[in-house]
Amino acid sequence: MSAHDPRDVVAAKRDGEHIPPHELRGFLDSYASGDIADYLASAFLMAAYIRGLDADETRVMTEAMVASGRTLRLDGVSAPKVDKHSTGGVADGVTLVFAPLAAALGLAVAKLSGRGLGHTGGTLDKLEAIPGLRTDLSPEELERQVEEVGCAVASQSSEIVPADGALYALRDATATVSSIPLIAASVMSKKLAVGSDLILLDVKAGSGAFMKTVDEAKVLAKTCVSLALGHDRRARAAVTDMSQPLGEAVGNALDVAEAVQVLSGARQGRLRDLAVMFSAEALSRLTGVGIGEGRAAAAAALDSGEALERFRRMVEAQGGDPRVVDDPHAILPRAPVVFPIDPPGAGFLAAVDAEAIGRAAGELGAGRTERGAPIDPAVGIVVRPKVGDLLAPGEAIGEVHAASEAAARSAAERVRKAMTLSDGPVPAPALVHGWFGG
Ligand code: URA
Repeated sequence: MSAHDPRDVVAAKRDGEHIPPHELRGFLDSYASGDIADYLASAFLMAAYIRGLDADETRVMTEAMVASGRTLRLDGVSAPKVDKHSTGGVADGVTLVFAPLAAALGLAVAKLSGRGLGHTGGTLDKLEAIPGLRTDLSPEELERQVEEVGCAVASQSSEIVPADGALYALRDATATVSSIPLIAASVMSKKLAVGSDLILLDVKAGSGAFMKTVDEAKVLAKTCVSLALGHDRRARAAVTDMSQPLGEAVGNALDVAEAVQVLSGARQGRLRDLAVMFSAEALSRLTGVGIGEGRAAAAAALDSGEALERFRRMVEAQGGDPRVVDDPHAILPRAPVVFPIDPPGAGFLAAVDAEAIGRAAGELGAGRTERGAPIDPAVGIVVRPKVGDLLAPGEAIGEVHAASEAAARSAAERVRKAMTLSDGPVPAPALVHGWFGG
């Protein structure tokens, strides 16, 4: 094989060797420009998944992905700029709430998000459930919208981090998602490509996350933060609980409807609490207000309707139907079958396999089975109880929104099987396991 044969890079990683920076960069550049086939990139991803990437390789991969497109400095945006990203979870609609909420607090949010990955939902898929809404904003559109509205959520594109767009879809299709270096490079390439003043990371830990333990999530958090620091960027990462669905809605239109309720101040709970926490953190770090004052300001922006109004403006600016904030159920697509979920028995909810619930929603059509496959924005699962709640026999714990009754019945059964009950009381898990970064 010649020195530039891309199979050498795959073979080196397969054998657990360190890949010299110029070779890894060359491989990724060639993939980004279409000179390396997906099958070879898939083999590389699997080798990296199994063998891992060291800190140097992770940095090179991140930088190569940033360099695959343009970077956006956001010089035309006057407000302090914050970006936030989740490493992926179930019923994780934090970005849908955070972006307009931070904008309502006077901050600017220019966010590149992802699509559903593995069993987790994706912000882009959720937003695109709103009729007419576009996420393929050009860099110029993104910047203009952030200056005018305060927030915008867009996809990777042929112009911004295209290599992440391609590798992200390939990882989803090849069972190579839950790898610390691959997640860190994917997340941080999108964050480093956009010139925000502060990067906030929501690193999920638990049954619905890619990192099943808090310790693994801490390693991912530290890896992401050190990639930011290596590029002189300010970043803070919170390791947060994903041992159960964060909110109640696992789907796309259903997630948007839930986010609208949180944005209107009508719904309390863990989804609101995390959005408030990240907004307060951003406000405090970027403007110097105390964290308590930041929390109070964020709660007030939800309760007064200001955050919801920002969401309306963001939706409208991206071509979506703004009436979604007034009556989400009338505007969002609806599934033909809504089927109640009976409880798995009586007792205290002790544990939830959130990944199983995410997979059940995916199988209803809320997620992709192969690259580029269409999704059904209307379907999904609403599951209400949280760990520690007492379930009573005969009282529905949520509902399945499905294309057919057979699909709904099967998903309801999977939700029941995903729950473990206890005879005695169970404490609610902590929402936050710690912060990293400066
Ligand atoms: N979010 C991303 O952008 N990439 C990942 O790999 C996981 C979550």
